[in-house]
Amino acid sequence: MFNIENFDIKLNTNLIGRNFVYTNEIDSTNTELLKRNEFPKNGTVLLSEFQKNGRGRKDRTWISEPEVNLTFSILLKNIFLQKSINILNLGTALALAQTLENLYQFQVELKWPNDVLINKKKIAGILLESTSKGKNIEKLVVGIGVNVNQPDFKGDFNIRPTSIRLEFKQEVSRERFLSEFLNNFELIFEISKKKPNKILDDWKARCSMIGEQISIVENGEKKYGIFEDLDESGYLILRSGDTTEKISFGDVSLLG
Ligand code: BTN
Repeated sequence: MFNIENFDIKLNTNLIGRNFVYTNEIDSTNTELLKRNEFPKNGTVLLSEFQKNGRGRKDRTWISEPEVNLTFSILLKNIFLQKSINILNLGTALALAQTLENLYQFQVELKWPNDVLINKKKIAGILLESTSKGKNIEKLVVGIGVNVNQPDFKGDFNIRPTSIRLEFKQEVSRERFLSEFLNNFELIFEISKKKPNKILDDWKARCSMIGEQISIVENGEKKYGIFEDLDESGYLILRSGDTTEKISFGDVSLLG
């Protein structure tokens, strides 16, 4: 059982998680915050022990054992530009990396656009979704799944999964992880708005694929080239010979 007191005592934010909603079972924390208007407060964090219909990128499912991991979403209601959403997507991965580094001294690798890896295995996933009213983005929901104390994983996965417990060789506090992450996330959220280049630089410092030959699947089409850089919006710049192309979405793999 998640101990809200232990979480709250270490939470050091002004906005994020100040309205904290805990539930045992839900369809999906992202869906709930996106579709329902019962959580009007900016910065609300909704945590569920079990999601009946946890969702990942590209319509994949996110399966997480109840009571041992973290599956939660953050509601942001400020006006966003598409560019800031992309930066915040990378920034969320960065905040997860900082948390894993600070608490457990892991060496974290970030994979574009927002996978968080330890020893080449996936420890956390991020799904940003939004609703719009006219030209304005009304709500942005940042959904995060972290494999915390799950002892093993069964099934087929796009990237092999792991958990903090498996890598750290002992159980850890979910409450401590969540408070530390939200503290980091709030700072990153501010930096995303004011100094997006700082997010890009810190993200790139943890990405080992830049400069490497990659393949990328975008809308069912496979492309090959060198992962040259990120542009100022966080898009991947793919070089093939003399030409470059900007990619906004896709699954990247190293070649060879
Ligand atoms: C991915 O790696 O494909 C993204 C996974 C995101 C999973 C989280 S768990 C909490 C939130 N609710 C969902 O339905 N999905 C996100």
